[in-house]
Amino acid sequence: MVLRGCGSATPSRSISNQELGQRVETSDEWIRSRTGIGARHVVGEKESLGELCGQASERALAMAGWDAESLNLILLATSTPEDLFGSAPRLQARIGAGNAVAFDLTAACSGFLFALVTASQYLRTGAMKRVLVVGADQLSRWVDWDDRRSCVLFGDAAAAVVLEASDDGQDDLQGFLLRSDGSRGEVLQLPQISDHDPLIAEASHQRGGFQPIQMNGQEVYKFAVREVPAILAKLLEETHTTADSLDWLLLHQANQRILDAVADRFDIPNSKVLSNLSHYGNTSAATIPLMLDEAVRDGRIKPGHQIASSGFGAGLSWGAALLRWSGPA
Ligand code: ACO
Repeated sequence: MVLRGCGSATPSRSISNQELGQRVETSDEWIRSRTGIGARHVVGEKESLGELCGQASERALAMAGWDAESLNLILLATSTPEDLFGSAPRLQARIGAGNAVAFDLTAACSGFLFALVTASQYLRTGAMKRVLVVGADQLSRWVDWDDRRSCVLFGDAAAAVVLEASDDGQDDLQGFLLRSDGSRGEVLQLPQISDHDPLIAEASHQRGGFQPIQMNGQEVYKFAVREVPAILAKLLEETHTTADSLDWLLLHQANQRILDAVADRFDIPNSKVLSNLSHYGNTSAATIPLMLDEAVRDGRIKPGHQIASSGFGAGLSWGAALLRWSGPA
């Protein structure tokens, strides 16, 4: 499979750490020193995640020079669908990709990486020729804005890549590993409400709805700094790749301290560690393609560059991929 284009879109309103201090007792100094985050974008009254997904997808298609009708498959990685039956078909209609089958995939902050790997399997078998993969989340809907331990971390965004089957054996996904461990799932969850209502005599039904995000920050931190280096080390070993041959380290943007700890483990210099946390915070499934899009468009990532990527988060779920950026044909 070949990575041909990328695009992203963020809500218009950026809320700084200082501004967040109007809502919870916090400070720019605390948030920056613990997380590296300086601001986050939040979907406002006249915006929607669906709109952002459409813009990100159209930008990725424009970069590749493709018509939306040439897509065969749309995978939307999101934990915050606008419709629990699935948001991907609405995206298909919004961008006019009438020939594509479209469905959602949920794996929290690992969602984009899981979707990218899923897309690659359709492309490698020849079942599909052109695929759009979108990572998008609006966690601002589900954050408890009075819980300063978690609300400062998250932001909203949508970002996309377009991929095509290779006709000459080239593969921009040079290796991958994916993991899940549901036994530790309670450290980061967005669980259903447990309320129920009477239905008929002697029967009730459970009401729909979700509680705000519940996070044990220290356990999530320990999980990330243990599992991400381990899975990346295994991936590099399996693909016979040395850390110093990588052009970029592109990790899920959860916390600058996690990025630094992983880079240190492999002696990767800061100049090769991509980070845009200070502007966006943790945008869940969107972070990896959002960062990719920024670095491709500003010229840091060039065609042929090799990128080690890792996503991690709720589930628990985590994964790693060794990628090459090709860009438009
Ligand atoms: N502002 C000011 N003070 C705060 C804030 C805040 N926003 N949040 C917590 N504090 C206080 C606490 O109340 C506590 O004070 P106390 O000792 O008087 O009780 C003190 O700061 C330390 O709190 P900790 O929770 O121990 O802070 P810690 O150093 O662990 O940092 C953090 C918290 C930043 C959340 C860290 O644990 C972390 O980054 N964890 C990873 C979280 C993460 O990345 N989650 C997303 C995963 S991806 C996904 O799938 C969604």
